[in-house]
Amino acid sequence: MILYFSGTGNSLAIARKIAEPLGEQVISLHEAVAADLSGEKRIGVVFPTYWLDAPLAVKALIPRIVFPKDAYTFVVITCGAQTNNAIWTVRRLLKRQGVRVDYCHKIRVPDTSALAFGRNPNAQTWKFDKFAPRLETIIADLSAEKHRLHFAGFDPLGWLLNAGSLAKKSYRLTTPVVNTDKCIGCNICVRVCPQGNISLTDNTDRSADRVQNTDKPVAHIGDNCTLCLGCVHFCPHQAVEVGNRPTQKGYQYHHPQVKLKDMIIRKQYQKMDNNPH
Ligand SMILES: Cc1cc2nc3c(=O)[nH]c(=O)nc-3n(C[C@H](O)[C@H](O)[C@H](O)COP(=O)(O)O)c2cc1C
Repeated sequence: MILYFSGTGNSLAIARKIAEPLGEQVISLHEAVAADLSGEKRIGVVFPTYWLDAPLAVKALIPRIVFPKDAYTFVVITCGAQTNNAIWTVRRLLKRQGVRVDYCHKIRVPDTSALAFGRNPNAQTWKFDKFAPRLETIIADLSAEKHRLHFAGFDPLGWLLNAGSLAKKSYRLTTPVVNTDKCIGCNICVRVCPQGNISLTDNTDRSADRVQNTDKPVAHIGDNCTLCLGCVHFCPHQAVEVGNRPTQKGYQYHHPQVKLKDMIIRKQYQKMDNNPH
């Protein structure tokens, strides 16, 4: 069984590519909270790096999942460049449950945070083929149930950036904001958000100065954002913005082998809080 978390499809695509040759099923980490994994002989966890660490949602979900202790367990992380503390964090969370990670590795994909910093994720020019050999190695290693921990060490910078007030400051840079002038209340972001953290509301109360908008429902992002930027990348009207800059259509990205419907179908999430405590 392979459990995944994904905001824009990179990690879902990698989870599927690993699952197929191994003959494993793929379910989201949100679904896994209610799943019976006790009979599984092999468990994989696939998710992205956000802010040099595992996503808030992953950190909150893993302690809620009952992992089998005797299964061959692996972690594969997607990242724009470096995983820093992401594998270390998840290994530590699994260890608390008495689960030992047998294998971990990373794979590079387009950086979905790029548009928050005024850069293009470069989906059109990204050389997916360049990283195919790494994926083949990972699949071969997992088929042979190898024991090898790549990129699993502790990284002080990753830890520092995700602690206390520094975390709040950095997370703010990649927290999506709805531009109520552009939002037409189409509901796509509501359905895409893996956290169930977006709803449509009348914007009367929140923007008394925008009288012209008061009669239309607009998206409202709640307090449990995990910063996946799915809402920013999938909005057909570029109405969800990040990094204090308008969203450019050409900068919106999702993995080419993952469709909007894939991101919506897997929505058996439970509306949840990022705070694991
Ligand atoms: C808020 C945010 C922060 C990110 N931080 C990092 C990072 O610290 N290091 C890195 O290599 N990639 C980083 N990325 C890039 C993602 O790890 C990468 O694009 C990932 O494959 C996205 O996967 P997904 O489509 O499954 O969500 C970040 C992406 C986002 C949205």
